Amino acid sequence: MAYQNILLEQKEPGIYLLTINRPKSLNALNDAVLDELYHAVGEIARDPGARVVLVTGSGDRAFVAGADIIEMQDFSAMEAKAFSEKALRAFRSIESLAVPAVALVNGYCLGGGCELAISCDWILASEKAVFGQPEVNLGVTPGFGGSQRLQRLIGRGRAMEMLMTGRQVKADEALAWGLVNHVYPAAELMDKGLEAARMIASKGPVAVRLTKQALQLGQDMDLFNACVMESDSFALTFSTRDQKEGMRAFVEKRPARFQGK
Ligand code: HXC
Repeated sequence: MAYQNILLEQKEPGIYLLTINRPKSLNALNDAVLDELYHAVGEIARDPGARVVLVTGSGDRAFVAGADIIEMQDFSAMEAKAFSEKALRAFRSIESLAVPAVALVNGYCLGGGCELAISCDWILASEKAVFGQPEVNLGVTPGFGGSQRLQRLIGRGRAMEMLMTGRQVKADEALAWGLVNHVYPAAELMDKGLEAARMIASKGPVAVRLTKQALQLGQDMDLFNACVMESDSFALTFSTRDQKEGMRAFVEKRPARFQGK
């Protein structure tokens, strides 16, 4: 598929960079972007060499300033439902991608943009990042999973405040709230993202995938069953060459050479 609204590149072996590329609209998510996003995530999912994906927005003003208001304004209820379901499918594909997805938030991260960022596994932000769920300003609710994922991530009270007031939350506050993991000067964000990606890519690939799966599946399970599931993942790693190599390398005091097998 030739992409018109996103960029998909492999920056280094196994390290993908997925960029929402509509800078004139502050990377607003329209129907076409959501189709391309879903397709691109599928491409990454089918690559056995994939190790991590960085998700960002084009330009220096926005990660994504929300769903495309121009496109949405005359939707019928059923068109709104179809649009929402398309985004849910695309975001779910990021969440369930076997490899980690890290959002690099470089500016406005509003509405559907914030919903996209929190569908990634964690967020690195620039000092210019601004988060918000301003749907109430437009007379609508979130529709891309924001009301649900946000409260699971930062807790009910903080999510309620963001969703009810539409207030913009700057990078330092987002850091204090646990919405983002780290804040960097804007000029350093991409390098820091790549640094994190290289760190992930250097680890045992099967272990990284199973760890993501354990966290994703476990969050909606009761603790006992979630721990049983984790125990099964742990046992499964002992069927891999990577486990033998990782432990042998430790004993031999040398770096491990993982194969993802
Ligand atoms: C379409 C958008 C847009 C959006 C910005 N633009 N956000 N177009 N949809 N969400 C466009 C503007 O129309 C403008 O185009 C250009 O990007 C630059 O934006 P400006 O407003 O001129 O920039 P600035 O004054 O700096 O203000 C930046 C901003 C503001 C604060 C981010 O653009 C803004 O409030 N945007 C909307 C944010 C929002 O409400 N997002 C949530 C959407 S609802 P032109 O052609 O005029 O240059 C949502 C719900 C998801 O996401 C669930 C749905 C199912």
